[in-house]
Amino acid sequence: MPSSLQPVLDRIATEIQALPGRGRPADYIPALASADPRHFGMAVAELDGTVYGVGDWQRPFSAQSITKAFTLALDLSLDGELLWEHVGREPSGNPFNSLVQLEYENGIPRNPFINAGALVVTDRLHALTGDAAGTLRAFLRAESGNDRLDFDEAVLASETAHGDRNAALAHFMASYGNITNPVPTLLDQYFRQCSIEASCADLALAAGFLARHGIRSDGSTLLTRSQAKQVNAVMLTCGTYDAAGDFAHRVGLPGKSGVGGGIIAVVPGRCTVCVWSPGLDQRGNSVAGVAALDRFTTLTGLSVF
Ligand code: DON
Repeated sequence: MPSSLQPVLDRIATEIQALPGRGRPADYIPALASADPRHFGMAVAELDGTVYGVGDWQRPFSAQSITKAFTLALDLSLDGELLWEHVGREPSGNPFNSLVQLEYENGIPRNPFINAGALVVTDRLHALTGDAAGTLRAFLRAESGNDRLDFDEAVLASETAHGDRNAALAHFMASYGNITNPVPTLLDQYFRQCSIEASCADLALAAGFLARHGIRSDGSTLLTRSQAKQVNAVMLTCGTYDAAGDFAHRVGLPGKSGVGGGIIAVVPGRCTVCVWSPGLDQRGNSVAGVAALDRFTTLTGLSVF
């Protein structure tokens, strides 16, 4: 492995240059549909906060479901094992916004990364903190060092206006007693969380605690080593939805994707990676992003396997 990861990132950007532009930006949230699929950025953050980047690595994009990895960690740090009584940790094999399993599994979502599971996590974090989205934003600002990192009000309004599927999931789980806050309050918190705008550099730095076995950038402990392992394990098995098997096969790292076209990936004990390119495949993962992570682990040998 090279001493600096910069040449690796430069090589990946060249090798995959035909891919940005393939796939389609998400359009079920209209504010995301206008993203230019030709964007591509990639950043790697080492454990000490050194960051390497290529392409649009400093340009903010809509973090969307990437935030689910952070809210899971924040809730786990407060809720502990109790969380796992309210959400499972098995891959769903279904699309991220699917409703089908919820009825025969009694309102307990399969895992924290499908939308139903993320709604439960945000609900619990909101009950414990009084401001789930604000807690998330404060954490991302502190870890990335970017005080301007914020919610995107246009994306928030757009998703709120087209949020019927998430509203259905939340109401259905509330009917089983698995939601604490009023559903409209929860939906506002969840949509706000998803609307966070951040760059590859911001998100790679903010995910650093997952590579440092739960330790934050200031040396304090967010998660125990065991809890950090839990979050990484659920990212590996469930972080890219019904494509998690293919992602593990190609990339070999815990990863979490979002429909804004970003993906974070973790090399425990070594570094974190964030890629972004808005063109998505049919399962909601960035086409160029997955390819770039595939090349990253192949070229560096950095994988959990
Ligand atoms: O709730 C939603 O549908 C979006 N705010 C987030 C979905 C998402 O990013 C799934 N990722 N691939």
